[in-house]
Amino acid sequence: MKVDRLPKVRTSLSPTNHPYMTGAWTPLHEEVNAWDLEVLEGAIPEDLDGVYLRNTENPVHDPVGRYHPFDGDGMVHAIEFKGGEATYRNRFIRTRCFEAEQEAGEGLWGGLMDGPGTSKLPGFGAHGSLKDTASTDIVVHNGEAIATFYQCGEAYRLDPLTLENLGVASWAPLEGVSAHPKVDEATGELMFFNYSKAWPYMHYGVVDASGKRTVYQGVETPGPRLPHDMAFSSKYAILNDLPVFWDQDLVARNIHAVRLHKGLPSRFALVPREGGEPRWFEAEPTYVLHWLNAYEDGDEVVLDGYFQENPIPRPLETAPDGHNHLMAYLDEHSFRSKLHRWRFNLKTGETTEKHLDDRVLEFGMFNQKYAGKPYRYAYSTTSKPGWFLFNGFVKHDLETGESWEIKLPEGVYASEAPFAPKVGAVDEDDGYLVSFLIDENKGTSECAIVDAKSFQIVCRVALPHKLSSGTHSVWAGREMLKA
Ligand SMILES: [Fe+2]
Repeated sequence: MKVDRLPKVRTSLSPTNHPYMTGAWTPLHEEVNAWDLEVLEGAIPEDLDGVYLRNTENPVHDPVGRYHPFDGDGMVHAIEFKGGEATYRNRFIRTRCFEAEQEAGEGLWGGLMDGPGTSKLPGFGAHGSLKDTASTDIVVHNGEAIATFYQCGEAYRLDPLTLENLGVASWAPLEGVSAHPKVDEATGELMFFNYSKAWPYMHYGVVDASGKRTVYQGVETPGPRLPHDMAFSSKYAILNDLPVFWDQDLVARNIHAVRLHKGLPSRFALVPREGGEPRWFEAEPTYVLHWLNAYEDGDEVVLDGYFQENPIPRPLETAPDGHNHLMAYLDEHSFRSKLHRWRFNLKTGETTEKHLDDRVLEFGMFNQKYAGKPYRYAYSTTSKPGWFLFNGFVKHDLETGESWEIKLPEGVYASEAPFAPKVGAVDEDDGYLVSFLIDENKGTSECAIVDAKSFQIVCRVALPHKLSSGTHSVWAGREMLKA
């Protein structure tokens, strides 16, 4: 392996025993270009052609208040596959806030767990006072990688291969862009949403294949809400108003306390993709972090996602002192998120819904060539009880109900593993899942390639340094990248 190391960024992080700044969440501060990567097992498939992009959380300064792992500075890691070879690079996302803290040599903004008064400067996000780290999500649209912040930020553009910073997206509205904009690879459109404390509390937008915003409209909710993800079918964008949101009396005093509002249903807005009046459907109360796919089926619109049975968990008793609340809210086993299907009947206005599996699962992926269309295969992750750490994958055949599981060895943790179609794929599951593994036993990281059909790891490639965990990833095939 050959590695070029870039000049170091300015850091002022003190040693800590914080559970989400140690172990597999130890921040990485090194930026490199690496090539001639060592293949540890199998061979890199010749029909894997494109780039896997991973966003991770890497705080470079001591937290101003209490640290939450979603406050970490965003870093994008890219592994490009072509002709059976792989190259790797990683870069911090140089947001305005990252640059301001580099200049200051210290943290300037409080985090998710702090009151607005903690920040030394006005900030971003639905909160109004956070650092826009662009550290949550990443998608590829119009040949560019777009990194986004879950509390709504500016949307940062990067070259998906060189990771060069290309500045903020000109199409991003003043109200910001939430994590989880969705790209329809068939039309080249990007659909996005945002949410805030100001009427109409939520917006929906569309950006066309050339990067021009063509739709931007309010989707009114009865007050501030906390949607995290959206979905789309071929005709509708699906936004949500779930009964888990900030206590409205407290939010008026600038205190952001999330609670379950008993008696309120879950509400789903089916917005015509080209813009227009949403049609609302009601369903069982829950909170959903992530959706899988959605599609039309006769008079019904089908939506798959992960239904939380316990969206307001009790503090985690096994957590280290002082972190019981934080750790419960990062633990899928506390939320009990289950693979679930909603069916919205356009004729009757009724919703029917059911679990598709009783295991605790989340962070699902599927073949994006089937986005918005009927699909058969879903890939979910399993997590280590008590921790926001992925310890395996589950493949579902949604037609037969059959499933297959990969369990990683103890101390080995995966990153979100998008589906990468094979060049010349025929079947929906002709492809691979690509994931970065953190091996806590060896103190190293590698890239694992899973054959989606046989559901086995077929190749492992060494990476030049140990990564930190994070949240989201994306696969972009060669056709998604600009020539
Ligand atoms: Fe997310």
